[in-house]
Amino acid sequence: MIAVREALSIGRKQLAKEGVKNSLFETKLLIKNILKISDAGLISTSEVFLSESQFKIFQSFLERRKKSEPIAYILNKKEFWKDSFYVNSSTLIPRPDSEIIIETVLNLIPNKDEKLKFADLGTGSGCLIISLLKEYKYSEGVGIDNSEEAIKVAEKNKSILSNNRRLRFKVADFSMFKTTEFDVIVCNPPYVNKNDINNMQKDVANYEPHQAIFAAEEGFIYYKNVIHNLNKNHKCGQKVLFEIGLGQAEVVSNLLKNNDFKLIRIEDDISGIPRCITAEKI
Ligand SMILES: C[S@@+](CC[C@H](N)C(=O)[O-])C[C@H]1O[C@@H](n2cnc3c(N)ncnc32)[C@H](O)[C@@H]1O
Repeated sequence: MIAVREALSIGRKQLAKEGVKNSLFETKLLIKNILKISDAGLISTSEVFLSESQFKIFQSFLERRKKSEPIAYILNKKEFWKDSFYVNSSTLIPRPDSEIIIETVLNLIPNKDEKLKFADLGTGSGCLIISLLKEYKYSEGVGIDNSEEAIKVAEKNKSILSNNRRLRFKVADFSMFKTTEFDVIVCNPPYVNKNDINNMQKDVANYEPHQAIFAAEEGFIYYKNVIHNLNKNHKCGQKVLFEIGLGQAEVVSNLLKNNDFKLIRIEDDISGIPRCITAEKI
């Protein structure tokens, strides 16, 4: 047996030595997950211990983290919006920035009792469509991804919804998917310029699926393909929301305008970077 206090000190020092910024916070997170306890449990006045086997797990987690593996993959979970989602290395780790898409839909359609049809193009873990359908309890939706492994992860997360017969996941290409039946389309496509790989954090570049991150044509190819497809599948009044990366607002806005979409708004993320474009089909 080893006291949690001692394990915390070991973990913090080892992670800090490898340059992990929030070494204490992350060590606590690992221990809380191994012991299945809350913050309160961790600081309880009576001494808390890790058994031999729990300490071995802790050490194996530390070794993985020291090699820059994201903590979300080590723990197989990531919080997004109001839930905790299962994740593995087949899916992008949901980012807090992407919650802006949920906030924007909620501002756009304040009546949560509406019966809408949502499509999530490039669903990954399913975090966007599941969070939307939790908010809009009478709506239904489809999440598509061309990665079979990602769809398996999304299927696992389906149980987050109590009435999950409203949701389907499908392996499909978002450049060709028929979108005419949907009222609202959300899409967080891969949008990082392939040339930027050397500027990325090791956690991301070495562990997250490249097909979820990188896009050819300076990061714009999927916006082009998806927007052309939406235009081809023309549905008047359809709302579309795209997550965008740094410096992409102008090009994506022009793509939308040139394909007969009316721009509704561009939302900034908490760092003041334009992050979500909303448009409507005319
Ligand atoms: C940036 S991730 C977004 C994941 C999730 N929606 C989120 O916001 O966390 C992009 C997703 O698009 C998928 N993808 C890439 N190319 C695709 C294509 N041609 N058709 C469908 N999905 C695609 C990737 O597999 C990945 O899961």
